[in-house]
Amino acid sequence: MPADIHSAGLCIGIVGTGAMGRGIAQIAAQASIRVLMFDALHGAAANARETVIGTLAKLAEKGKISAEGLAAASAKLEVVTRLEDLASASAIIEAIVENLDVKKALFQQLEDIIGADCILATNTSSLSVTSIAATCKRPERVGGFHFFNPVPLMKIVEVVDGLLTAPWVSDALLALGQRMGHTAVRAKDTPGFIVNHAGRGFVTEALRILGEGVADFRDVDRIMREAAGFRMGPFELLDLTGLDVSHPVMESIYNQYYQEPRYRPSPIAAQRLAGGMLGRKTGRGFYDYGKDAATPSEAVAPTTLPLSVWVSQTHPEWADVLREIAAAAGIPVETDYLPGDNALCIVTPLGGDTTTSCVEQGLDPRRTVAIDCLFGIQTGALRTGDSASGDGKGPRRTLMTTPLTTPAMRDAAHAMFAADGSSVSVIRDSTGFVAQRILACIVNIGCDIAQQRVARAADIDRAVTLGLGYPKGPLAFGDALGARNILHVLETMLDCSGDPRYRPSPWLRRRALLGVSLLTDES
Ligand SMILES: NC(=O)c1ccc[n+]([C@@H]2O[C@H](COP(=O)([O-])OP(=O)(O)OC[C@H]3O[C@@H](n4cnc5c(N)ncnc54)[C@H](O)[C@@H]3O)[C@@H](O)[C@H]2O)c1
Repeated sequence: MPADIHSAGLCIGIVGTGAMGRGIAQIAAQASIRVLMFDALHGAAANARETVIGTLAKLAEKGKISAEGLAAASAKLEVVTRLEDLASASAIIEAIVENLDVKKALFQQLEDIIGADCILATNTSSLSVTSIAATCKRPERVGGFHFFNPVPLMKIVEVVDGLLTAPWVSDALLALGQRMGHTAVRAKDTPGFIVNHAGRGFVTEALRILGEGVADFRDVDRIMREAAGFRMGPFELLDLTGLDVSHPVMESIYNQYYQEPRYRPSPIAAQRLAGGMLGRKTGRGFYDYGKDAATPSEAVAPTTLPLSVWVSQTHPEWADVLREIAAAAGIPVETDYLPGDNALCIVTPLGGDTTTSCVEQGLDPRRTVAIDCLFGIQTGALRTGDSASGDGKGPRRTLMTTPLTTPAMRDAAHAMFAADGSSVSVIRDSTGFVAQRILACIVNIGCDIAQQRVARAADIDRAVTLGLGYPKGPLAFGDALGARNILHVLETMLDCSGDPRYRPSPWLRRRALLGVSLLTDES
């Protein structure tokens, strides 16, 4: 019989006591689980034990755990020097080097040592759990147990069912993850599991926007923080993670899915990686982190308002809000079917670009500017982006020109939408602005993870909010923005670009057409 995960006497083994192994050891010990720590490098496990006890002592100093808690957790951590010393463990968690052959060899060795019901769990991020298990005598006892760094703070663990994993093994790992104080979600053994798969949309689409010359990376970051509510912009995130880590992950997932266009990496990242501009760790990434680096401040908004404004009626509910904004700034609003000769023309594309809206509506491209109404026009029920700036201003607004918009008309539109104190980014023409297209990719990939039955819909959102720190999971984001809106954005982008990257997932299409939540699993 498999061990009772809830028992007071539970004992687990951890093999590999680097960044991940020691974090897992800490949360296990804090959950009153006896932990046997082993590392192939002489002295590494003892060193890791000291580090974990030091971390626990700091928590006690700060009053986050009691003195008794510190003593009890420390007493649970034991160093062992031979793999044979792990014989009494009910589960062994492997957190060694990310190499398939080395992991396989370790599991084969462990099988000759451990008890019949001992679980073998791997913390691999990118290797197939099924292939690690396949060379074991009893592959059914092998499962994935994927934590995130730093383990004690990232309160999510993916329990990965390999093709050969027995259900009792994943059930036990789910219970073990929960006992350790983490949210444990179940995922199928697929490239990137849930979190690293779901994370593809954010940075790859941002890199495409940069590659198309649509906006400066700083503006993309500002829009994603201040209009879409992300804690960090995609380029800030790339600099934090380091391109030496993120670019290989982008390539690996893309190739494991046999060049699926939705995950296509960017030549911009490859070139910057080759140039050693990795991010914070090298002092220079997209941003400069050197001693003398100056943070360029955003240009002050122009103040010369348009003489009059005309707003497209394509989306009447948005047009009403935009007219109110113009009127509040004291600008005469034209209400005729067509604009007068001097009016600034405002269009409101959803998924499309300014040029297409302008031509379809017979407007003068020199006087036409688009505004992203899905994010940041800030009023009542239409409000979808929350200001992350915390400065009391509304969310950032994004304006988009045609290739022919005159600087005077561009600046007049900027002045009008900044007149109430809102921040404004002006970008070049693009299907889907910035936030629409990045969010549409995030939602679409989340939907396709659900479509592939990698995990239950609610678990996808839970894993993404905890694992990636997004303000909402991809499916809840789609619901908040409107599944039909996201479908429309993707269809329009697919139509304009011809790039299959934007083809909508069937999960999204069906739920949008039926008018139900994207979190709706099938029974
Ligand atoms: N660091 C992360 O952000 C992260 C996140 C999730 C998962 N992972 C995965 O966790 C695993 C460990 O990553 P890490 O960042 O802790 O690595 P690390 O380099 O910090 O630690 C690995 C440890 O394993 C030991 N080791 C290597 N081969 C061994 C063997 N054959 N037997 C016993 N010990 C051995 C090393 O001496 C080292 O102490 C990898 O599979 C990695 O992909 C890492």
